[in-house]
Amino acid sequence: MKDDMLLWDETLFKDPEVFELDYVPEHFDHRDAQMKSLRFCVRPALRGARPVNALCLGPPGTGKTTAIIKLFEEIEKHTRSVIPVHINCQIDGTRYSIFSRIYKKIFGVTPPSSGISFKRLFDKIASTLASREAVLIVALDDVSYLFPEKEIDHILYTFLRSHESLPGFRAGVIVAHSETSLRYILDHRVESVFRPEEIQFPPYKRDEIFAILSRRAQLGFYPGVLSRDVLDVVVDLTAESGDLRVGIDLLKRSCLEAERRASRSISEDDVKKAFERSRFLHLEHVLRSLSRDERTLLRIVAEQPEGKAQSGELYSIYHEVAHSGYTKFYEILKRLEALRLIETSFTGSGMRGRSRIIRLRYDPTEVLTRTEG
Ligand SMILES: Nc1ncnc2c1ncn2[C@@H]1O[C@H](COP(=O)(O)OP(=O)(O)O)[C@@H](O)[C@H]1O
Ligand SMILES: [Mg+2]
Repeated sequence: MKDDMLLWDETLFKDPEVFELDYVPEHFDHRDAQMKSLRFCVRPALRGARPVNALCLGPPGTGKTTAIIKLFEEIEKHTRSVIPVHINCQIDGTRYSIFSRIYKKIFGVTPPSSGISFKRLFDKIASTLASREAVLIVALDDVSYLFPEKEIDHILYTFLRSHESLPGFRAGVIVAHSETSLRYILDHRVESVFRPEEIQFPPYKRDEIFAILSRRAQLGFYPGVLSRDVLDVVVDLTAESGDLRVGIDLLKRSCLEAERRASRSISEDDVKKAFERSRFLHLEHVLRSLSRDERTLLRIVAEQPEGKAQSGELYSIYHEVAHSGYTKFYEILKRLEALRLIETSFTGSGMRGRSRIIRLRYDPTEVLTRTEG
């Protein structure tokens, strides 16, 4: 009996680091095609030419960031004349902070925080790289954080037209976006020079999720902590969410639940408890990424009895509030569905044939309290 209990100073984690957000896995399987496309895009840079711009698309937790980091590791191992800079746009969301980040990478120090204009910062970066014959590759990761104020247009325009004013300077951009396209976002002048190679990151399939999580658990937990049956539960919940991050976080939280009970292994119940907690973390993460219109429509759905209504009713309310047309309404619905915030089903034979029911996938009050203001 006593052997089953965990002592207060014991842990089930062999290596807790592997469950952290910034952990870069050594094995990055199931993304060979995407890695190949990325390598194809940067290849010209290895010969000193301008790289092909790339656009990584796919829902959250499909390996976009990891692929870029892996690519950049490969480049840095291979050459010093291609300089990759990874920008997390959630942290660096302005022209100035992005170019500061690049400046730091090249000169090893942060630029003076005042008194130097963005233009001078950029000129210094570009002329230095041109004289070194080095090629710059900038990854704008989670680019939606650059949409406000059209910051994205200014930044891309600066990069992509720079060779005209600064001969010898070569730069390429890799954009990562948690959507299926970047349509209607960019200014058409930017669009016409950006012309990226599109690289899709589809959600992982169940067996891929199983393999990835199983490997992660093996690295992170002591033997015997996670049984095959319990892992299956984690994998099912992850597949349902479509986001690998949910699964990795779930492994960690379930294990903490097990430790809380002083158990030597994770039970199905630990997973379920942990899932409830992480579900809301995930919800908050997704809600933060919504545009104002998406938020408005989601709130309208949440305000309906039991969080569901016919799509026609929703449209008339939405139209009243947002003054937008049906195309826009339908587009937002599709996006909210892709984010798994709502689901759509058809009623049986109604008066007007099959009509669509939209239902919130979360408790309405949970959504309403998290989208106030
Ligand atoms: N093919 C893979 N093999 C192992 N771990 C992966 C794989 N793809 C993603 N991950 C892990 O899943 C999490 C989310 O991946 P990430 O690259 O951040 O996704 P995205 O940028 O598309 O949201 C990270 O912790 C990452 O380590
Ligand atoms: Mg990412």
